[in-house]
Amino acid sequence: MLVNMKEMLREAEARKIAVGGFNCATLESARAAVAAAEAMNMPFILQHAEVHEEYIPLELAGPIMVTLAQNAKVPVCVHLDHGSSLEYVTRALRLGFTSVMYDASGKSFEENAAETATVVRMAHAVGATVEAELGNMPHNLKGEMELSEYKPEDFYTVPEDAKKFVDLTGVDALAISFGTVHGVYKATPKLNFDIVRKVRQAVGELPLVMHGGSGLSQEDYHTAIACGIRKINYYTYEAMAGGRGTYQVVKDKPEGLQFHDVAMKATEFMTEDVKRAIRLFMGEKV
Ligand code: 13P
Repeated sequence: MLVNMKEMLREAEARKIAVGGFNCATLESARAAVAAAEAMNMPFILQHAEVHEEYIPLELAGPIMVTLAQNAKVPVCVHLDHGSSLEYVTRALRLGFTSVMYDASGKSFEENAAETATVVRMAHAVGATVEAELGNMPHNLKGEMELSEYKPEDFYTVPEDAKKFVDLTGVDALAISFGTVHGVYKATPKLNFDIVRKVRQAVGELPLVMHGGSGLSQEDYHTAIACGIRKINYYTYEAMAGGRGTYQVVKDKPEGLQFHDVAMKATEFMTEDVKRAIRLFMGEKV
């Protein structure tokens, strides 16, 4: 069933758990997320990230994601991840996305708030929900950056700004920065949960979003959720599980290998990884 993220995040708040936002950089990752969520009987958010345009363009990903969501046995929100322009967000909404993230976190507070408010008006007019980001999260998509090369505190969300931003924009969810990074962790991340607690105090029950959500310890997931994180964006370590599945088939059958066997095994490995993530997000010990 295709839905926006409002109801599933409300339910997550009531149950004190987090909903997974799983990226769809390939057909296999999208199908793995659907299969895992159906197996766990949990609603989830299927995301297309603008930075994944080189793997799958929005106009191709959108119809695939909407079809998967419509046919899924659990509620699925089709969400744009890190949309960087009003033009790209508009294209997603026209394709039937039920939710969008507009990311102007690299701009000034005033520009971020004003542009996000415009996106909220556009999206709410068609029944879609909106996530925005305050504080700026470093990207380590190719895994080339050491955590020691930057100071996480330079990127943290300022809790005092959060309430003002939410009041000015009317967003449905807010991504905050407290020590996670997108991509591969080359050193154990140190998360500042005080930031999450303070933002939560400032904005009440507005769902808070953790990006860079794969590759953390069980304890970090559970503490982040206890502090008020209600949506966790998860991709890199799922993709690496797909890589391990691929390696296994290639290693077992180096000659005469057919690609659909690779795709099937990668999907199987990613499905298991997403199931584990969903269990963690539900507060289970795995
Ligand atoms: P990871 O790829 O680091 O898990 O982060 C996903 C994410 O935050 C997408 O917005």
